[in-house]
Amino acid sequence: MCGIIGYKGGKNAVKVVLNGLKRLEYRGYDSWGIAVKDGNIRTVKDIGKIGAVSEEDLKLGSAQMAIAHTRWSTHGEVNQINAHPHLSNNKRIAVVHNGIVENYVKLREFLKENNFEFYSGTDTEVIPNLIEFFMEEGVSFKGGVSKALAMLEGSFAIVAMHQDYPEIIGARNGSPLVVGRNNGGFFIASDVPAFLDLTNEVCYLDDKEMVIVGEGIDFFDLSGVKKEKEFQFIDWTLEQAEKGNYDHFMLKEIMEQKETIKKSIEQDDKKILEMADLIKEGYGVFFVACGTASYATRIGGYLFSKIAKKHVNVVCGSEFPYYKDFLTDKTLMIVVSQSGETADTIGAVKVAKEKGVKVLSIVNVMGSTLMRMADYSFLTNAGPEIGVASTKATTAQIALLTLLAYACNGGLEEGKEVLKKCVEESQELFDSKFVDKIEGLADKIVNYNDIYVIGRGTNFPVALEAAHKIKEVSYIHAEGMAGGELKHGTIALIDKGTPCICMVSNDEAKNDIISNAMEIKSRGGFIIGISPEDNEIFDFHVKVPDVGEASAIVNLIPAQMLAYYLAVKKGFNPDFPKNLAKCVTVK
Ligand code: G6P
Repeated sequence: MCGIIGYKGGKNAVKVVLNGLKRLEYRGYDSWGIAVKDGNIRTVKDIGKIGAVSEEDLKLGSAQMAIAHTRWSTHGEVNQINAHPHLSNNKRIAVVHNGIVENYVKLREFLKENNFEFYSGTDTEVIPNLIEFFMEEGVSFKGGVSKALAMLEGSFAIVAMHQDYPEIIGARNGSPLVVGRNNGGFFIASDVPAFLDLTNEVCYLDDKEMVIVGEGIDFFDLSGVKKEKEFQFIDWTLEQAEKGNYDHFMLKEIMEQKETIKKSIEQDDKKILEMADLIKEGYGVFFVACGTASYATRIGGYLFSKIAKKHVNVVCGSEFPYYKDFLTDKTLMIVVSQSGETADTIGAVKVAKEKGVKVLSIVNVMGSTLMRMADYSFLTNAGPEIGVASTKATTAQIALLTLLAYACNGGLEEGKEVLKKCVEESQELFDSKFVDKIEGLADKIVNYNDIYVIGRGTNFPVALEAAHKIKEVSYIHAEGMAGGELKHGTIALIDKGTPCICMVSNDEAKNDIISNAMEIKSRGGFIIGISPEDNEIFDFHVKVPDVGEASAIVNLIPAQMLAYYLAVKKGFNPDFPKNLAKCVTVK
C-alpha cells in the first residue's frame, strides 16, 4: 500500500515518475504528489487518482531528478496537505514514504521541543524534519537519513532528495523497495511495473538497506557501511503490465488465465518432489496467507486432506502468531502470497522463524520479501497482477497446491495430467459466448443487495472466495458458506428471488449440496448452479468442464467474471475498489 518512485537520469524525471505513479496506482489511490529538483524543490499534490493527470497539468517543466507517491492513507485523513511528498521545515528535503512510523507522536514532540513545526496529520512528516535536525548537527544528507531512520519504529520504505545534494536516497525496513537501472538512469520504486517500460534490470533492497543514486549507484546498510548487491533481469514484459485492449486490468487478468494456469505448473519436478518430502516429514504443517491467497490455501487444505492424505493447518496471516505455542523446529510453514509483501504474512513468518520453523513460499513476485525470507520457494509465474482483486494469481496458487498435493502422495504425473486436462478444458470458459452469458447473469442479479454462495468440501472455500470477489469489487453484500451450515441460521435471510450461487462438482458432496440448494429454492431463492451438468433445480446454469480434483479452478473463473461484471454494471471501477489496496504492507 502506497506506491513510491524516484528517478534520476537522462530522461525527463517528471515524465518518468508520472508514468510510474500511474502504474503504481493499484497500491493506493487516495491522493498523489510529485516533487522535482531543479534548483529548488517544487511539489505538486492533489487528492484522488492520478489517472488522467498529464505532464502539462503538472506545470513542473522538466527535471533530472524527481520523487513521487500515490497514497493509501493510514495516518491523517485524505487531503492535499497529507498527500506526499512531505518537506522539512527548511523546505530543502522532500520525502515519500510507504509504511507506518509507529512512534511518530514521540518523535513529533521531540522535534517540536527543537522548534520544528508540523503542518500535516501524517506520521511521515517527522522523517524529513528528523533528517534536517541531524544535518543541522553537521552530518551529510546520507548521514542525516541514516540517523533519522535509526529513530523510527515501525515499517518504512522511503525515497528522499535534498535541494543541495545531487543524489536520491532510498531505504527500506519492512516495506518493499526495488531499484531499476538502464543506460540512462536509475529508478527506486515500490514495485517493478513502475518502471517496466524503461527497464527490467532490477535489484531488490533488503530490510535495513539503503541505496544512493548519485553519479552512479551505491548500496549501504542503514548505518552507512557499503554493501555489494547484484542486479538481475526479471522476465516480465511491459505488455503484461498494461491494459492493452481491455477496459480493466481485472478482466484482462481473468482472461490471461487461459495461459497462466499452465505456466504455474511448469515447475522443476525434482524440486516439487523435494518439497513434497519436506511436507510429508513436517510435523505440523501450516498454510498461511491473507485475503484471496488465504482462500486458495483453504482450498489447498481440502486437497491435501483428500489427495495427499496429509493434515495441514490453514491459518490466516494475522492470526498465525496466536498459534506460536504449537511451533517447533519440525514444523513446516507454507506461505502463499501474490505480492510476497503482505505485512501480516511477513509477520507470521517472523514468528515462525523465531521457533526454528522451515518456510516454503509460493509467491508471484520474484525477489519479493517473502521469497527472500523463505528457506525454499516456488514462483507462480502468473506475470504481474495489477488489478486489486486477485484473479490469475489465485488460480495459479491453487494449481500449484494441487500439484504439490499429488506429489505428496507419489502421484506427481497423475497431478500433471489432471491439471493439463483442466487447462485444456477450461479454454471454453474464455470464449466470448461464455463471457457474454456471465455478463447476462450479472444483469439479472445486479440489483439485489445480497448474494449467497454455497459449496461443500473443496467447494466451500471456493464459495468463500467467490463471495469475497463479489464484495471487493461490486460492494454487493455476498456471503460464502458451507452448504450444510445454511439451515443453521442464514436460511432466515432467503426471500423470493434472493440470488444463491451453488458450486456443484461431480464429487462426494454433490447430492448434499443439491439438497442444500433445494432448501433455498423452496424458500424462493434464485439458484445459479456452477456445475458440469445442469440440474432441474437450477434457475440459471453455468456449465463448467468436469475436471475432477481441479474443479476449484474452473468453478472460480465464472465467479471472478461475475464479480467483474457486477462491478462494471454498478458503475464501479473494479481495478480500484474503494478502501482497498493491492499490496497491504501494514498490519
Ligand atoms: C490485499 C488485496 C487482496 C490480496 C491480499 C493478500 O488485501 O486486496 O487481493 O488477496 O492483499 O495479498 P498477497 O499479495 O499476499 O496475495
